[in-house]
Amino acid sequence: MDIGCGTGNLTLKMAGIVNNGYVTGIDSSPSMIKKAKGMAESILVKNIQFLVMDAGDINFNRQFDMVFSNSAIHWIKESEKLLKSIRAALKQRGHIGLQFPLLNSSHPLISIASKVIESLKLEDYYNSWDFPWFVPALEEYYALLSNLGFKDINIQQIENTFKFRSAAAALDFLDSVGLVLFLEPLPSERKILFREEFMKTLKNLTSKNGLEFTFQRLFVFANADERAIGK
Ligand SMILES: C[S@@+](CC[C@H](N)C(=O)[O-])C[C@H]1O[C@@H](n2cnc3c(N)ncnc32)[C@H](O)[C@@H]1O
Repeated sequence: MDIGCGTGNLTLKMAGIVNNGYVTGIDSSPSMIKKAKGMAESILVKNIQFLVMDAGDINFNRQFDMVFSNSAIHWIKESEKLLKSIRAALKQRGHIGLQFPLLNSSHPLISIASKVIESLKLEDYYNSWDFPWFVPALEEYYALLSNLGFKDINIQQIENTFKFRSAAAALDFLDSVGLVLFLEPLPSERKILFREEFMKTLKNLTSKNGLEFTFQRLFVFANADERAIGK
């Protein structure tokens, strides 16, 4: 199973690897799933299915050898519930391989947005804002996995550097990470100011060589322990 499969690029690769097996991609976005299904049909991949499903609603029972997710589960704040349903979905001796970015204060989206909030004195709008991303503390995440029936847990925090040729390209990337969510608590006129100030900050960070963002990703590998967890 591929959680948050998007347009299914990686799901299709997995179907190619396990050609005697079957792959299920789930995503909460109907448009992503439509594209993924279209792609699978156009290249005649048969051992795959794509389902519109919120990761919070996963309800499989000892069905999968492997649960995979790339760059998606940081959107799911109820991490314990998610890991429980992943564990229940795994066959005995099943595996997980999960990767997601850490949207902590060193992530460029968070650090630049924080600077903009400070320079425009917008702090009050964010007092009761529910931060949209799941950002685990490593030891707690390890303990959670262990308590929920995983063993051989290997969590690696790996630094990534992305290079952009222009501030506009960097803005596109940060839009895809969720910049728009920072606009939600603001009234309309402040939304415009926020975006202008954000772009100004990006331009200030840009040299003739473009700009670079460094951020951390978590890679989480583990195996289901012998406990028969399921429905
Ligand atoms: C950055 S994309 C990653 C897509 C794909 N895994 C890849 O690596 O190409 C994140 C995906 O997570 C999906 N997503 C976000 N929240 C979700 C949720 N609660 N349940 C299922 N999918 C979700 C989004 O719709 C989006 O397609």
